[in-house]
Amino acid sequence: MDELRVNKVFAGFLFSGLLLMAGIKISDVMVPHQELAQNSYVIEVAETTKVSASAPVENSPKPILAMIADADLGAGEKISKKCSACHVFDAGGKNKVGPALWNIVNRPMGAVDGYSYSTALAGFGGNWDYQSLNAFLLKPKAYINGTKMNFAGLKKSKDRVNLIAWMRTKADSPAVLPTADDIAAEGAN
Ligand code: HEC
Repeated sequence: MDELRVNKVFAGFLFSGLLLMAGIKISDVMVPHQELAQNSYVIEVAETTKVSASAPVENSPKPILAMIADADLGAGEKISKKCSACHVFDAGGKNKVGPALWNIVNRPMGAVDGYSYSTALAGFGGNWDYQSLNAFLLKPKAYINGTKMNFAGLKKSKDRVNLIAWMRTKADSPAVLPTADDIAAEGAN
């Protein structure tokens, strides 16, 4: 083989190598890598917030019933200032951004006349007893998925206890205090 021929063979190799690389690049551009919209295999994860009558376990607050009777009502009233931008607690109070809350403890959920509730709250079902208030006020949107109450929640159980005990007094006839049986049942849950 003369030198020229060797060169040509080399050039041929080089050129086809280049073509191959260019081809790969072009196909990359023409068919871009696509992110899968969804995992091709779906991992089943239980929904953390279900619209159901019982609070989801992940968001279950600490028991409070044993503390209601001895709660600090003055402290509860102070906490209620966090709600007063949207709620009136007094007798005859009007609906604001949120519904009027006189007589709220043990009242059916979503039952204030003339207030337009979210479908999530309207369809939730049940009464605002101590425990549902406790769970709701911990994290409203976790307890009632889809509620339009824009409030992050009260993290400290003490704050919730004091507030709920104070809310109990804002009623024509305050709800009965939790009985020893109620307290024992709550602890057993
Ligand atoms: C930013 C406004 C806002 C704040 C602050 C707020 N709420 Fe609400 N609240 C709402 C709205 C709006 C609703 C109606 C929710 C729905 O229909 O989903 C509501 C609903 C409720 C309900 C259900 C009433 C019923 O008739 O079923 C309770 C109980 C309640 N709020 C208590 C409180 C308490 C206690 C606080 C303070 C710790 C508070 N909210 C703070 C806006 C607010």
